[in-house]
Amino acid sequence: MSKSQLISVSYISKATQDMGVLALMRLTDQAAQLNQRLGLTGVLFYENQHFGQILEGPRAEVTKMWEKIQRDPRHQQVRLLKMEEIAQRSFTAWSMRFFLAKEIIAKMPNLTGVLDGLPEHDDELLRLMRTAAS
Ligand SMILES: Cc1cc2nc3c(=O)[nH]c(=O)nc-3n(C[C@H](O)[C@H](O)[C@H](O)COP(=O)(O)O)c2cc1C
Repeated sequence: MSKSQLISVSYISKATQDMGVLALMRLTDQAAQLNQRLGLTGVLFYENQHFGQILEGPRAEVTKMWEKIQRDPRHQQVRLLKMEEIAQRSFTAWSMRFFLAKEIIAKMPNLTGVLDGLPEHDDELLRLMRTAAS
């Protein structure tokens, strides 16, 4: 399996403390800069102390970043939704696009609370993150 094969990883997690706008901006800025250097793209959601993220790029870089992200003390209960090979990127233009999940929930009010990560919602949540970001 080639290290440059594109893969995507998606997960949800719970922020260790409620993140203020400044902390979120700092995180997103830093992530976007590093991702640009590493050839990573994706989207990050935040709502009600929960994160959701889809990260994509070459296997070697995504795997390394995924390991680093899991160790980040700013969040916990990191739960993998899906890791898969992809034929092409979904978020070509975004080294890390940030959304407040309210933007998704506003579109789909029946899915309020979905970021709390009930297992039966995994596929729905992933589909939703993709739709909101597209
Ligand atoms: C929810 C969450 C998502 C993150 N996403 C990324 C990301 O996409 N890219 C990135 O470089 N760092 C991301 N980080 C930050 C990394 O965990 C790490 O702090 C950062 O890459 C700096 O790493 P360094 O300490 O090796 O310089 C994220 C952190 C959190 C809590």
